[in-house]
Amino acid sequence: MKNLFELSDQIIAVTGAAGVLAGGTAKYLQGQGAFIIYLDLFQEKVDETVAEAKKISDKCCGYACNVLDQAALDAVYEKIMVDLGRIDVLINGAGGNMPGATIGPDQDVFDLQMDDYSKVLDLNLKGTVMPTMTFAKAFKAQGSGCVVNFSSMSAAQTLTRVLGYSNAKAAIDNFTKWMATEMAIKYGDGIRVNAIAPGFFISHQNRALLINEDGSYTERGQQVINKTPFRRFGEQDEVYGTIHFLISEAAKFVSGAVVPVDGGFSAFTGV
Ligand SMILES: NC(=O)c1ccc[n+]([C@@H]2O[C@H](COP(=O)([O-])OP(=O)(O)OC[C@H]3O[C@@H](n4cnc5c(N)ncnc54)[C@H](O)[C@@H]3O)[C@@H](O)[C@H]2O)c1
Repeated sequence: MKNLFELSDQIIAVTGAAGVLAGGTAKYLQGQGAFIIYLDLFQEKVDETVAEAKKISDKCCGYACNVLDQAALDAVYEKIMVDLGRIDVLINGAGGNMPGATIGPDQDVFDLQMDDYSKVLDLNLKGTVMPTMTFAKAFKAQGSGCVVNFSSMSAAQTLTRVLGYSNAKAAIDNFTKWMATEMAIKYGDGIRVNAIAPGFFISHQNRALLINEDGSYTERGQQVINKTPFRRFGEQDEVYGTIHFLISEAAKFVSGAVVPVDGGFSAFTGV
């Protein structure tokens, strides 16, 4: 019987691939037999990541590529098409927050730093739209392809403090649905665009916000746990299976979905 989750002929580009969630997912997918193109901002981080990935298999390569630099995206796209001839999946993992786009505990909303707000909108939203526009050209030509975007719990409901990030991730939900519709209507049902909305996973960027140096929860960390029926943060490997599903033939009729991977956070009112 056919394995709906087979990945061994898949060529997958991953942005933010030196990071925690996208990087872990990329290595998992490579372990499942896919060919992975690791993309991240700095050459040194990419080299370290690819050196690790080579221990899994030879089916990988990596490029330093700023997702906001169209020339860099075009160069990577051309290289992939020359070297590998096609691309099957794009995982848009690059993203994140910065302090000036966040309202600090002793600040109010009018302290928002507009420059940082714009940077966070750019990184998360344009940093998803630009690689998609670049790589989806191959999907159009092939009549097949998959995109997985990274949304957040801050997109569909309000999380205090993280204004820029919330606005950007809400726009990613909208872009996911918009692009899913556009691709299918114009180029057929072989092209699918979905997103995952991770709950709270400890990463470089949110550790200090959620966990004290002694390992106890911060006040905000405790608030998150209180609204999470699983009563814990996510482990990075808990996003792998959902992404595997979304890019596989098992999800052949799934497009425009934003799938929560959140221990029940989005389902629970907290009461
Ligand atoms: N960790 C969480 O709890 C959580 C929750 C919801 C959503 N997310 C989202 O998941 C995605 C991955 O997050 P993570 O926790 O693994 O973060 P991370 O910081 O570990 O990884 C993000 C990666 O993106 C790279 N990056 C940043 N700017 C870039 C640019 N301009 N071009 C190319 N690469 C760039 C960074 O170098 C880093 O390696 C992000 O979109 C994040 O917003 C994370």
